[in-house]
Amino acid sequence: MHFLRDKGFDHAHRCEITPRATYERRRELLKLLGCGVAGAAMASWAARDAHAQTARPGKLAALSGARSAVSGGATMEKPSAYVDATGYNNFYEFGTDKGDPAQNAHTLKTRPWTVAIEGEVKKPKVYDIDELLKLAPMEERIYRLRCVEGWSMVIPWVGYSLAELIRKVEPTGSAKYVEFVTLADPKTMPFVGSGVLDWPYAEGLRLDEAMHPLTLLAFGMYGEVLPNQNGAPVRAVVPWKYGFKSGKSIVKIRFTAKQPTTSWVKSAAQEYGFYSNVNPEVDHPRWSQATERRIGEDGIFAKKRPTLMFNGYGPQVASLYAGMDLKKNF
Ligand code: MTE
Repeated sequence: MHFLRDKGFDHAHRCEITPRATYERRRELLKLLGCGVAGAAMASWAARDAHAQTARPGKLAALSGARSAVSGGATMEKPSAYVDATGYNNFYEFGTDKGDPAQNAHTLKTRPWTVAIEGEVKKPKVYDIDELLKLAPMEERIYRLRCVEGWSMVIPWVGYSLAELIRKVEPTGSAKYVEFVTLADPKTMPFVGSGVLDWPYAEGLRLDEAMHPLTLLAFGMYGEVLPNQNGAPVRAVVPWKYGFKSGKSIVKIRFTAKQPTTSWVKSAAQEYGFYSNVNPEVDHPRWSQATERRIGEDGIFAKKRPTLMFNGYGPQVASLYAGMDLKKNF
């Protein structure tokens, strides 16, 4: 936050600033060039693009998952290209520009790695990542990810419901919330220590949200282990909430009686709420949440697509918020 203010920005999320526009323009230009050269070239381009979206990229160790039977677990929308999902990221520990994580996150060491389960549980435990990987069968979940900044992607994650882990550690009767604490290592993460956020990056959910079968503990994407810039070796994915609720590179999961404060609420409580459910009717003070641009598909000249209530997962999750004023509890 302070870092951005120091640089003359008056907001935390660097949404509509040049990097995205530049990136989109480049892709748009490439597409237009393809068009101009020849129809055939364009067709082969499109074929290659479609292939890139489904084939295993072959860059990292394979990690496959069975097709998920969870309701809402596989959107029919086309997955985003791997190059977009791994090249256009928010991971502020590695820099605030969209291309920074891909460039800088090679320094992240993902082994050895442990995840400590603490707080209001009957069976606290420090899990080695390789034990956590085997805790439940892997599933493929194809989720829309909607960022509060007004863009979205469709990502085929590999992981299992966080509920599998929660059941194993047995929350006590006092556990009402779950806090996710992520790695903050100034030696390997160049932006930890900058004033951009209060480190470590921390997020939280209500226990029933954390137990919802759609809430994913993700270890992979596109049939391979997570690339560092996407939150290796383990991250949360909560598809009906804005992307920032999905903490990357988790080292601690803490069960609490009181609602935990989160990094974004600490940075600007008037802008970021604890719930942060995707809601086209509740705008962020500076950005409309009514529409979004799909990265890699909707060029800068395309009409934006409407954002769906709960990011389209209303049938599965709306009941969690029955009777709540979602304007107050944003
Ligand atoms: N987790 C950590 N540790 N640090 C971050 O800066 N950014 C969040 C979230 N998780 C972030 C994080 C935000 S703002 C978004 S939109 C998503 O990660 C982006 O995930 P992706 O880069 O895999 O699309």
